[in-house]
Amino acid sequence: MSKLIAVIGGTGLCDWPGATQLDEIEVDTAYGKPSAPLHRLRYEDAEFLFLARHGEGHSLPPHAINYRANIEALRQAGVGEIIAVNAVGGISERFVAGVIGLPEQINDYTWGREHTFYDGRDGNVQHIDFSYPYCEELRLRLCAAAQTAGIDVEPYGTYAVTQGPRLETAAEIKRLARDGNDMVGMTAMPEAALAREAGIDYASVCLVVNPGAGLSDTLITMDDIQAVIDNGMSQVKSLLAHCISA
Ligand code: HPA
Repeated sequence: MSKLIAVIGGTGLCDWPGATQLDEIEVDTAYGKPSAPLHRLRYEDAEFLFLARHGEGHSLPPHAINYRANIEALRQAGVGEIIAVNAVGGISERFVAGVIGLPEQINDYTWGREHTFYDGRDGNVQHIDFSYPYCEELRLRLCAAAQTAGIDVEPYGTYAVTQGPRLETAAEIKRLARDGNDMVGMTAMPEAALAREAGIDYASVCLVVNPGAGLSDTLITMDDIQAVIDNGMSQVKSLLAHCISA
């Protein structure tokens, strides 16, 4: 039997215009409330749960998101697979603004976030394997769906997760490039690790919304980012619908 799929939407995907809402589920967890209620949506031929990572109306910055409550809420709802959507900055040449990337690796530069269910409070300590942070099978399904839908994707890449909410300095982007990162965002961690701890398969669709700091002749503006989001998120939504209904 196929697993229940949830989409965690990030910047530019806090709600889902064009979808039919089938249900809205308020959830509470031992870690507190998730960023928003879970919405059961139908979009094109796909049915899935949707969670707005930054809250409805984008009110939560990346470091203040209750990632544990979000993942626990999805686990309680019976979710077996998560497709995360992340807006990112581009670092390596392949990842220019407008590109959709399907990362297969992560470097975590965040700090101070509640990042594990195994915090020692209940005496249960586990060290999960995290060699390959994304579910390869789900990433390949996303690749196949992109091909069917005629949507270009960069099928591999390393995602650097920074603390935010500020963007990086030009020097920090140079360092992230030296570290082998292809794109930079603020929300893949601890989300991906918590999903692994919860036993939920996890993959990500990243929309590059700006060149990393110092990589273009102009400064990064929110207007430029918004223009890329307006264009790119409709492709991301179509890719997700193809993948989920396949
Ligand atoms: N850096 C970090 N996070 C981001 C960026 C960026 O340039 N763009 C979108 N999210």
